[in-house]
Amino acid sequence: MDLVYRPRRLRRSAPIRGLVRETELSPRQLIYPMFVTEGKAVREHIDTMPGQFRLSTDELVRECEELYSLGIGGVNLFGYSIEKDDLASKSYDSAGLVQRAVRAIKKAVPELCVQTDVALDPYTTHGHDGLVMNGKIVNDESVEVLCKMALSHAEAGADWIAPSDMMDGRVGAIRNALDVQGFSDVGILAYSAKYASCFYGPFRGALQSAPKSGDKKTYQMDPANTREALREISLDLDEGADVVMIKPALTYLDVIARVRDTFDVPVAAYNVSGEYAMVVAAAEKGWLDRDRAMMEMLLSIRRAGADMILTYFAKDAAAYLRADYGSYT
Ligand code: PBG
Repeated sequence: MDLVYRPRRLRRSAPIRGLVRETELSPRQLIYPMFVTEGKAVREHIDTMPGQFRLSTDELVRECEELYSLGIGGVNLFGYSIEKDDLASKSYDSAGLVQRAVRAIKKAVPELCVQTDVALDPYTTHGHDGLVMNGKIVNDESVEVLCKMALSHAEAGADWIAPSDMMDGRVGAIRNALDVQGFSDVGILAYSAKYASCFYGPFRGALQSAPKSGDKKTYQMDPANTREALREISLDLDEGADVVMIKPALTYLDVIARVRDTFDVPVAAYNVSGEYAMVVAAAEKGWLDRDRAMMEMLLSIRRAGADMILTYFAKDAAAYLRADYGSYT
């Protein structure tokens, strides 16, 4: 055969493939979502997310030290609150679970980027991300509570506030609240395009935070929409978001790519609990190679255009990259 172009020439060996590789995955791009619980020396296995745990603060700190030594960029904290009420009053308690955890982590590993989730669902009896009044999830009243929650996290030392609630106008309100109180250095990682997805199921199991009635479709986005995602992102940027997020990641790679092309800001993607659980379950059955599935998934999210990835695989991927750098494809 008389071929001018033989693409296989560039696939002949691992070093040649390495030289022409277009996308890099590094531990510094990974953020590990973690669940904080009360107590001491507690490591509660999360049944819906095999290999993940609810950790008491002391255990959490130990884990963060390890994550930092692996080169992981940040952690994103969720509180497993058993004290729930209709108004989410524990969410902004300065001596609350997450607030104490942030203080402890910042003391032990000051450089690790500590991010905190801001939404009311783990703290409300009804399990919605905002307040419920007369059967409706109300917006502006919810934003007031979210601002108090964000402030309490900033006071504890959080580097980034991560509002995941999808209420309108919360990024601007939180930015303003932080600035007024002198926290202009604290960043906002906005869950800007967060879809109403079934892939959050295992996470809701982990926090016992599933909504008791109704669903989240009046605030989270319709999976059918892309233009709306771009609009949400430009609104959040106008309101002062530092980093924008698309969530989930794998079923929205096209959205990540569009956002990457359209905006010149750092883009995050959340490789959510259901995406983690699918791989882990299939690997347990022997149907998938866990490590290879993990690396291929994370690489696809980077290739689509995400700068950083929130993933329950963060630690495993960092360890894998360290042990076997360069041969992950
Ligand atoms: C709640 C929140 C959810 C996740 C992050 N923050 C669940 C939801 O919106 O119901 C999902 C994370 C995951 O599935 O890994 N504000």
